[in-house]
Amino acid sequence: MKLWGGNYDADPDREFWEFNRSFGFDRRLLAEEVAASRAYARALGRCAAIPPEDARRLDEGLAEVLARAQADAKYLDLDAEDVHSFVETRLGEIVGDLAGQGHLGRSRNEQAVTALRLWIRGAIDRLAAAAAALVEALAGQGEAGAEAVMPGFTHTRAAEPITFGHLAAAHAWALVRDRQRLLDARRRVNVLPLGSGALAGTALPLDREALAADLGFEAVSENALDAVMDRDFAAEFVFACAQLQTHLARLAEDLIWHSSPEFAFFALPDAYTTGSSLMPQKKNPDALELVRGKASRVDADVMRLLSLMKGLPAGYQKDLQEDKEAVFDAADAVAGSVGVMTGVVRGLRLDAESMERAAARDEMMAAGLAVALAREGLPFRKAHALVGALVAEAQAERSSLSAVAARRLPEVSPAVAARVAALFDPRQAVRTKAARGGTAPDAVRASLRAAREAIGR
Ligand code: ARG
Repeated sequence: MKLWGGNYDADPDREFWEFNRSFGFDRRLLAEEVAASRAYARALGRCAAIPPEDARRLDEGLAEVLARAQADAKYLDLDAEDVHSFVETRLGEIVGDLAGQGHLGRSRNEQAVTALRLWIRGAIDRLAAAAAALVEALAGQGEAGAEAVMPGFTHTRAAEPITFGHLAAAHAWALVRDRQRLLDARRRVNVLPLGSGALAGTALPLDREALAADLGFEAVSENALDAVMDRDFAAEFVFACAQLQTHLARLAEDLIWHSSPEFAFFALPDAYTTGSSLMPQKKNPDALELVRGKASRVDADVMRLLSLMKGLPAGYQKDLQEDKEAVFDAADAVAGSVGVMTGVVRGLRLDAESMERAAARDEMMAAGLAVALAREGLPFRKAHALVGALVAEAQAERSSLSAVAARRLPEVSPAVAARVAALFDPRQAVRTKAARGGTAPDAVRASLRAAREAIGR
């Protein structure tokens, strides 16, 4: 059944009908469409636009539509134009002509955006909870590896020793912000458009505040024309997804190379790797590579929404029907990725010995040595140059920086020379970075506690 056509003398072209339909994908809004339509029927009853008995029959009939759809997937097999037409058609089978009264004063323009807002609100709540679980998993691993020393990298070159907990906390904090960003966007998502009509507002004495409260919206849109065309809440949600996915991709990348046999700082759980059809020794990090790969589609979804809105005139345009798939695609990619990543992180088996072996490379203590010399009074730039020369000397003679330092430093600074052994011990090196946010085990534990607090766990 079409919701229009009184002024038409021909049916739509078949090919165009299929092209125009959105029920293939907007059926995902069914529960939200039913919830909004039920609340609207109650609101119509409350303001006496329809008799209370009709409002009750509409409300119950709509609940019945959702129950039947959930009980039997075949119930969805209907040549409906979109989810809104589907609901009205199925409602008509239950309550007869009264079904049309549920549309009194209402436009699909406001229905579509109301359902989308409700759907995104639910997606945000699920994602925020999932992100918190991942933060918790990282915090757990970080606490287990708070003392485990490993190389920290810049430019993928070993830089200074850090603890594994420091790395885990770094990734956890990015996710704490992602969760906050989602919850902040939620305030702008959670605004009621219903009661806007097609663009001009409603002529019915609807109590829009009560309607908002009924649907759990925190605010009511202030302009009917803005309300039907506004999709910035969707773009903002998808951006928050993209930023989160970008952080997941970075975490994936770290887990991929640090778990490679050449590093073996930890092993990935078997349940999240796949074997090779040819090479029996392989355990490939497919889960993590997919998480990294999916960042590309979520980024593209942000562009889809921004370019969809660019250049549209004020008012609802059918272009806006293209908003939903970008939202679903981003939400699905991120939800799947967070779930898999949480499983991977929980299952990591740390190899503190491999980490420590890699962290024992003398050159990583070069910066620490320069700082120690500067604290004894040598200007830091001079200390930096001096240690640089010692590094070059060690490389030229194929020995180690600590050996060259032990030989050269007594003439430069006897105090530092006396501490060479300690300065070249990576465990002691990490303990010096004890200020808030540093890699010292106690600082890391405090940081992980704060991350847990930030997510309320
Ligand atoms: N299915 C449409 C959408 O997703 C809503 C229908 C509004 N259609 C219209 N011709 N006004 O945006």
